Amino acid sequence: MIQFEFQKYQQVKLDSYDLENIKERFLQDNHMSGWYDLDRSCVSEIKALASKIRLQCDVFLVIGIGGSYMGSKAIIEAMSPYFSKQKPEILFAGYQLSSEYLQELLEYLQDKEVIVNVISKSGTTLEPAITFSSILSFMKQKYPQIYGQRIYATTDAMQGTLLELAKKENFHTLVVPENIGGRFSVLTPVGLLPIAVAGYDIDDLFEGAMEAKENLDNCYYYTSLRHAFYQQGKVIESFDIYEPKLASFVEWLKQLFGESQGKEGKGIFPVSTINTRDLHSLGQYYQEGKDILFSTTIFAHSDHTVFLQDYQKSLDEVNQMAMESVCQAHYEGHVPTSLILMDKISLKNLGYLLFFFEMSAMLGSYLLGISYYDQPGVNAYKKILREKLGEE
Ligand code: PA5
Repeated sequence: MIQFEFQKYQQVKLDSYDLENIKERFLQDNHMSGWYDLDRSCVSEIKALASKIRLQCDVFLVIGIGGSYMGSKAIIEAMSPYFSKQKPEILFAGYQLSSEYLQELLEYLQDKEVIVNVISKSGTTLEPAITFSSILSFMKQKYPQIYGQRIYATTDAMQGTLLELAKKENFHTLVVPENIGGRFSVLTPVGLLPIAVAGYDIDDLFEGAMEAKENLDNCYYYTSLRHAFYQQGKVIESFDIYEPKLASFVEWLKQLFGESQGKEGKGIFPVSTINTRDLHSLGQYYQEGKDILFSTTIFAHSDHTVFLQDYQKSLDEVNQMAMESVCQAHYEGHVPTSLILMDKISLKNLGYLLFFFEMSAMLGSYLLGISYYDQPGVNAYKKILREKLGEE
């Protein structure tokens, strides 16, 4: 269950935007609206593949960058225990160009049974392509006759270098739907296969997302609120959490809002704050720094009961009290807060939030008058780097 508390720690006069009407416009005029359908047609195939893969490997290696890995990483890390290693272990690569990481990964994989899922919608992105090239050589050496059977390529159905390679080398292929952009693709084979291989029931994610789709009032309110803050000059939104397992979830949020809305000299800059840790680093700025911040706090209760004798309270209660104290202090320091409260971290709650935030990123972009699904600015560094590498 998720509760929203928008008014306790802020007083903003909201303009009324007809977001229902914007939603209708988006559905009529947008060819990249596939994520809104919450199409479950791939679920049984993904579940069957995942059951097979789980028996065949110690490590399931996901290679991708941006929307091709952040959604599954967010969900898997939120759901996984901190200390006990689960089998198969899900590892991620191809989202940076670190030689240290790649070399140590190759060494780590040496004595493990490995299955690879390389994900790229365009099939041409540099970081995963470079990583996959090394991993492919490794797989050819480790499984000379059957490496193709141990590689799953998730990519466009019709075109791209990855698709061509998959056909040539006989990899299994899964499709990134044409009308869904990377950062909106977690509930497609892009995110669903890794999540299912990690052992999580992807139907529960859809159930939560469906609930969010059927109850859009809170999403409309949140979208209007952040737009109102933006118009007041509050150009930084911090996603604050009090459960470190949600750290990759807020990384996913940063990508979703950063790439969707940072265009044409507009947009709110998304950051994350992991509390209570960051109260001892960023907390000072929140309280007394420049007046450009607002907070969206995502608080998840815990199932575990750690009782603190000294306070005669559970640790979860103290964590909540800390969160409430921070909200109050920040409010008094001119940082308003919206609260999103989860009764626990569950697939259903996370599925709800995936759809809730995707919807808000899209609607908010319409309010800013920009296109929500592309990211033309990302090409600038790629162009320079490719020139430096002597490529076309
Ligand atoms: O949201 C997006 O579209 C991007 O972040 C992409 O997911 C990212 O650039 C990776 O692209 P690709 O899947 O084509 O390799």
